[in-house]
Amino acid sequence: MSLNLILMGLPGAGKGTQAQYIVEKFNIPHISTGDMFREAISNETPMGLKAKEFTDKGNLVPDEVTNGIVKDRLGKDDTDSGYLLDGYPRTLDQANALGEMSDELDKPLDAVIYIDVDPNILTDRLTGRFICKKCGATYHKLYHMPKVEGTCDVCGGHEFFQREDDKPEAVKNRLDVNIKMNTPLISYYKERNLLYNVDGNKNIDDVWQEVDKVLSNL
Ligand code: AP5
Ligand code: MG
Ligand code: ZN
Repeated sequence: MSLNLILMGLPGAGKGTQAQYIVEKFNIPHISTGDMFREAISNETPMGLKAKEFTDKGNLVPDEVTNGIVKDRLGKDDTDSGYLLDGYPRTLDQANALGEMSDELDKPLDAVIYIDVDPNILTDRLTGRFICKKCGATYHKLYHMPKVEGTCDVCGGHEFFQREDDKPEAVKNRLDVNIKMNTPLISYYKERNLLYNVDGNKNIDDVWQEVDKVLSNL
């Protein structure tokens, strides 16, 4: 049995946080377009240099670039038993492109989990976030501190960083851009009977309980 999923939600909704639990329990690859762009940027590849112009300011990377990297990634064998897309699709053009590529690859979607959070609390989540340099695990200065201060729970690393687009100027634009795209995408998946809404305002463990319940009942 395969499990082909999309994790949707506004910036800071908790996609990356819940993705860590999902991929661990269901043993499927985590495909985050944001992570892929950040990796390309840090490796200074031509695609990364192009993407950086958009990501730093919180704008969307053009659809043809984004669709291209997802198509390449979904074409790999490790997605035969499932995949978790995090942060893709974000536009109707991307949703249509995903529909086509998943048909072509015969890896059709099983569910779209929408992590629904009051936009008013997202700025706080984003500006308080910090990330382990070594393994990418995500923390928050108020809501999710490492068990031992200064040490990553996952890999034991001691170095952390803040994302370029978590600076206040970029955060505001990122939220505006994504809020605008959100409603039509939600309708798109609702019409296709794939959408599952999860209350993302609760604490991380409670949200995970809800996500796990949805996935276990599919
Ligand atoms: P991406 O990296 O996907 O950023 P994003 O969508 O802005 O989402 P985030 O990663 O910021 O939030 P998240 O939902 O993962 O939250 P997290 O779990 O970390 O994309 C970055 C950029 O790349 C985009 O702006 C765009 O430029 C480009 N891009 C990516 N995909 C694209 C696409 N498809 N098309 C075009 N361009 C694209 O949690 C946030 C914080 O809150 C953490 O500190 C966490 O510890 C904390 N937290 C999490 N859950 C809870 C909770 N329940 N309660 C309290 N705190 C919580
Ligand atoms: Mg994320
Ligand atoms: Zn780590």
